[in-house]
Amino acid sequence: MRTEVQHWRRGALLLLVLAFPAQSGELSATVHQRFVDSRQPPTWRPVEADEAARFQLGQAVFNSAWLPAGAERAERRDGLGPVFNATSCDACHNNGARATAPTDEGRLPIGFVMQLGLADAATTPLGDVLNPVAIEGYRAEGGVVLNYQLREVHYPDGSRAELREPRYQLQGPRVAELSAQTVLKPRMASPLFGSGLLDAVPPRAFTPLGDSPGRFGWQAGTRSVRDQTAKAFSREMGLHSADYPMDDCGDDALCAAAPEGGEPEVSEDFLQALTLFQSVLAVPRAEPLDAEAEQQGAELFQRTGCTACHAPSLPVEGIQGISAIAAYTDLRRHDLGEELADRRLDGEIIKSRWRTAPLWGIAHLPRAGHLGLLHDGRARSVEEAVLWHAGEADESRRQFMALPKSQRDRLLDWTLRR
Ligand code: HEC
Ligand code: HEC
Repeated sequence: MRTEVQHWRRGALLLLVLAFPAQSGELSATVHQRFVDSRQPPTWRPVEADEAARFQLGQAVFNSAWLPAGAERAERRDGLGPVFNATSCDACHNNGARATAPTDEGRLPIGFVMQLGLADAATTPLGDVLNPVAIEGYRAEGGVVLNYQLREVHYPDGSRAELREPRYQLQGPRVAELSAQTVLKPRMASPLFGSGLLDAVPPRAFTPLGDSPGRFGWQAGTRSVRDQTAKAFSREMGLHSADYPMDDCGDDALCAAAPEGGEPEVSEDFLQALTLFQSVLAVPRAEPLDAEAEQQGAELFQRTGCTACHAPSLPVEGIQGISAIAAYTDLRRHDLGEELADRRLDGEIIKSRWRTAPLWGIAHLPRAGHLGLLHDGRARSVEEAVLWHAGEADESRRQFMALPKSQRDRLLDWTLRR
């Protein structure tokens, strides 16, 4: 039995489970679903009756804007900042989708974050993230100016494509405190779909040593959805929790001494609810291709070497009814060359390794958005994303470029519908 269950309709779902108790395994296996109503995002497994309240709380916390400490009617949602990037998860993550693409003129979405680093993993005077906003009475740290330089790429068959190469400058009150060795790490808010399934991939499937490295974030620097959630609260919203007991103030003593919105500001039940909400989000389903286009696209994807990193299948454990997922990632990190690498303020290139980005659901646009692919959103299409692949993916990109145009188009369209 294949059903298009909208799991959020718990009433209907309970009835189905009662009617087909023996097949609940199959019911729980609807990874790809249509996202129609952003207020009711579908889940890949039923939200059990005893989880319903937690799921709803998680969704509410995800969507709601936090307020400065002591604000009236904040209902446990105060303590924002004093410096921050956005007031809600949803402001950056667009109903679970990635950030909207930066425009050609260099206008950046809220969901674009400039992380700051130093080579020895030390924290910069501005903390781990450049915080462009402050509550009343405090100093914001600064903002990002983005300029794209356009460049043309020529295919062997004579056709062309245009790429936009980002150049960043920082501006603002505290930017002068950063040393020339500071690494700029431009990052788009990632899509959150299917993260509970990525969480269920056993470490041995992607690490030879069997240890448990990070699997979330553009560089797989974070171990779990909960960890990334608590990190985001601390760094991008100025809200501390049991897991991350500090705001992202860097050296600013005034910032560090700002009034608290509670101890901790983000309560344990909020963290748990948010984690559940994100972990059960399904993956948006694209319009299916006809059988022939599906088969040819898959063949081209394999033949041009994409599958070496964008693995068509990964095992998952501990989930009833699902033993493998088609996320099109190996959850490993790869060097894609200098042009995608992070740079220091003085321009020096820092060798960077990126987690193979999962391709499932990539056609799902943020509200009113355009595709802004890759870790910094520079790619406006799948084609541009592929043309930026170099380093370990150089050979694969060459093979793609050598295909006749009709086959390139087929492969790109197929990729967009994962
Ligand atoms: C100002 C924008 C912003 C806000 C606010 C924000 N995030 Fe994010 N989020 C990001 C960015 C940027 C990344 C990528 C980070 C990286 O790769 O290092 C990210 C990554 C994530 C990821 C990892 C997804 C993956 O598969 O790699 C999760 C989960 C996440 N955020 C959850 C949240 C939650 C929950 C909240 C609210 C508590 C939140 N975020 C608030 C910008 C934001
Ligand atoms: C050597 C490994 C490797 C190979 C081979 C490879 N990719 Fe990738 N791909 C990556 C990594 C790593 C990223 C993330 C880069 C980043 O974050 O900037 C990525 C990102 C992408 C993205 C953007 C996804 C997003 O969410 O922004 C697309 C689309 C993509 N690859 C398609 C392809 C296609 C099509 C092929 C084959 C022609 C291919 N890739 C071959 C490693 C690879």
